[in-house]
Amino acid sequence: KTVCLLNGPNLNLLGQRQPEIYGRETLADVEADCAKLASELGLNLRALQSNHEGVLVDAIQAARQDAAGIVINPAAYSHTSVAILDALNAFDGPVIEVHISNIHRRESFRHHSHVSARADAVIAGLGTEGYRAALRRMAQLLA
Ligand code: DQA
Repeated sequence: KTVCLLNGPNLNLLGQRQPEIYGRETLADVEADCAKLASELGLNLRALQSNHEGVLVDAIQAARQDAAGIVINPAAYSHTSVAILDALNAFDGPVIEVHISNIHRRESFRHHSHVSARADAVIAGLGTEGYRAALRRMAQLLA
């Protein structure tokens, strides 16, 4: 089974961007670790990062064809994008939302996520470990 790992805007700068909030691990590190963990869990990982809302919508639509589940950090689009929520609502499998930081301890505009209305689970504040936790849970949900 294939799991889609989607990361939204500015997460390409992971490791360099506000490391005091997001840590020093790069997105390449996260994706490589997740691919390794996925194979240990008997899953296949397809990872994509985009700074563009429509590209993320297209990736979610493509997941309808060949992915069993989606792990997504929509980044700033969490707080703004009805389009990403609508695309996820058209996807049948489990969806797990990840935020590296604890969005509830930050500015009030980060407290609400449109995606949470669709997510089977929401992880916030575990750092980049949250992606691995999401994958472990995804494996349980797909078993
Ligand atoms: C984030 C939190 C968002 O508020 C922010 O816009 C991000 C990253 C996180 O992983 O903590 O870009 O989703």
